Amino acid sequence: MGIDATPPVVPVLQTPRLRLRPLQAEDAEALHDAYANPQVMRHWSLAPSGDLAETRRRIAWSLAASVEMHAAWAITQPPDDRLIGLVNYHHREASNRRLEIGYLLMRGHWRQGLMREALVALLDHFFVAFDVHRVEAMVEPSNLPSRRLLEGLGFACESGVLRDRIKVGDAYRSMVMYALLAPDWKAATRR
Ligand SMILES: CC(C)(COP(=O)(O)OP(=O)(O)OC[C@H]1O[C@@H](n2cnc3c(N)ncnc32)[C@H](O)[C@@H]1OP(=O)(O)O)[C@@H](O)C(=O)NCCC(=O)NCCS
Repeated sequence: MGIDATPPVVPVLQTPRLRLRPLQAEDAEALHDAYANPQVMRHWSLAPSGDLAETRRRIAWSLAASVEMHAAWAITQPPDDRLIGLVNYHHREASNRRLEIGYLLMRGHWRQGLMREALVALLDHFFVAFDVHRVEAMVEPSNLPSRRLLEGLGFACESGVLRDRIKVGDAYRSMVMYALLAPDWKAATRR
């Protein structure tokens, strides 16, 4: 029997205050606190979950997706293992060494630098261990917390307004595209 030396695509990532671990079915109730909250979901690419069953279906979809395309981590605050947020990648194109990130934090945890801390660990994983060259994020122009977060991490806004880029429920939403390249991240973090 051979030994698979391939590092896990969704490894546990540790930061000073956080532990990022693979999302699991048991996270449904905690995630539903965020997915049912219209304020948290205002700029998300899905409408708020109608009920817990819908949140469970969304997690099931995420867990069934190929890591070639998508994977998600729960953000937790040790020693508590309860989910307080979520980070993911989607629209990954391995041949172009490119992927897109998504991130969301429960309302009570905003503005404590937590998502910045989580994304530093995630970007390190993508650029250093996962060999990604370009990380993208699509943001609604009015989502200032998200834009500030990305700009603070070195992302550049590369587009004007991309009109009606996604459809959420019955409504279209316009987006701007942010991106960060591996050489810029490595230079900024001196790797
Ligand atoms: C976007 C989001 C993840 C930010 O998380 P957070 O942990 O509060 O962000 P941080 O505390 O790490 O702050 C990062 C930067 O954004 C700034 N920021 C955060 N919230 C802000 C706000 N409401 N207004 C202005 N700036 C804000 C911080 O000041 C910080 O900037 P600095 O580095 O220049 O000081 C959080 O607001 C959220 O979950 N929103 C709902 C989901 C969502 O919109 N996801 C993004 C979809 S594209």
